[in-house]
Amino acid sequence: MLLNTSKTQPGPNAAGTAVTDRFARPLQDLRLSVLDRCNLRCTYCMPEASLDGQGSFLPVSRLLTDDELERLVRVFAAMGVHKVRLTGGEPLLRPGLPALVKRLAGIAGVSDLAMTTNAILLPRLAAELAESGLGRITVSLDSLDETVFTEMSGGRGSVAEVLAGIEAAERAGFGALKINTVVQRGVNEASVLDLVDHFRGSGHMLRLIEFMDVGNMNHWSPAQVVPGAHLLKQVHDRWPLKPVSDQQAGETARRFEFLDGQGEIGFINSISEPFCGDCTRGRVTADGVFYSCLFSTSGTALRPLLRGGLGDAELTEFIRSLWSQRDARYSEYRNGGEQVRSKVEMFRMGG
Ligand code: GTP
Ligand code: 5AD
Ligand code: SF4
Ligand code: SF4
Repeated sequence: MLLNTSKTQPGPNAAGTAVTDRFARPLQDLRLSVLDRCNLRCTYCMPEASLDGQGSFLPVSRLLTDDELERLVRVFAAMGVHKVRLTGGEPLLRPGLPALVKRLAGIAGVSDLAMTTNAILLPRLAAELAESGLGRITVSLDSLDETVFTEMSGGRGSVAEVLAGIEAAERAGFGALKINTVVQRGVNEASVLDLVDHFRGSGHMLRLIEFMDVGNMNHWSPAQVVPGAHLLKQVHDRWPLKPVSDQQAGETARRFEFLDGQGEIGFINSISEPFCGDCTRGRVTADGVFYSCLFSTSGTALRPLLRGGLGDAELTEFIRSLWSQRDARYSEYRNGGEQVRSKVEMFRMGG
């Protein structure tokens, strides 16, 4: 039964054990999209030509309110979620984000509150976000070359603005940032070593991401993917690396450290080396649809439940039931040749 109305009190072990899915994977991470709009138009995420103007985005009236987001995170946290990542679109475009962050940071059980951003609005917001309790920031940056950057960002924003955002985050006290670079064959491959050179020794960790077939708008093809193993060799030939010893289960990135002590670099090889086996990530869109996989074709609307007077205990039981039925392992099936036609776009579901 999906909607169990028994009066189970929410708590990490409400039913005696943490909630696990059909492959015994616990629900530990929540990735929350707070807005699907963005001030860039990255070709691998929301290419302008594929967008149906403003009609591609959620009307403001459909977004979950701060009250609803706080309640949802409280419910997830009580079920054992300790990592919450705010995503978009571009989360910094959500009005009043620092106030929302402050509310989420105060939730018992949330020990890691992070955000993925293109950094462009950080000069305006980094200090306030730090004061509000945001713990970590991940910045997307695909090239240090303005021409390549612009080609990938759909003609919006600039490298200079992203670097200014990174500096603002540093000034605000965000220590080690993660820098995400999606590598696309023939587009920014030549930018990779420059990025490595720039960020090694900076205290930040660059992560090179294989271009994924998420959504349908980006017209992905396998030929556009540069395998992480190839990038690893390229970097290792220039700056020798060794695998880190503290790699955690469930991490998206395979991490390596520079032998000369200049920090770490990560490789997110979702295409060539899927990591579904340890996937503990649930996702909620800005209008409150729950997805159990980045590549889901359908999700479950939680907004009607939030607005329909359901109590926390029932909501907990409902989500517990959804997770316990989860059997998602898309990246592994993909390698088996399965084709999925109508996937949800990354800017809607969040990275
Ligand atoms: P940490 O909390 O720092 O460990 O973050 P993370 O590794 O989850 O990093 P982040 O949110 O920056 O994700 C980096 C990239 O990895 C995303 O932009 C996606 O491209 C990819 N990614 C993240 N989660 C998943 C996932 O569950 N499945 C797949 N296939 N790719 C993912
Ligand atoms: N493949 C891989 N990563 C992607 N991202 C967005 N679209 C894709 C894709 N098709 C990631 C980028 C960005 C984050 C918001 O989502 O890493 O940093
Ligand atoms: Fe915006 Fe990030 Fe998507 Fe680029 S990848 S369009 S910055 S949400
Ligand atoms: Fe998790 Fe789905 Fe990504 Fe696999 S493809 S790691 S199940 S989100």
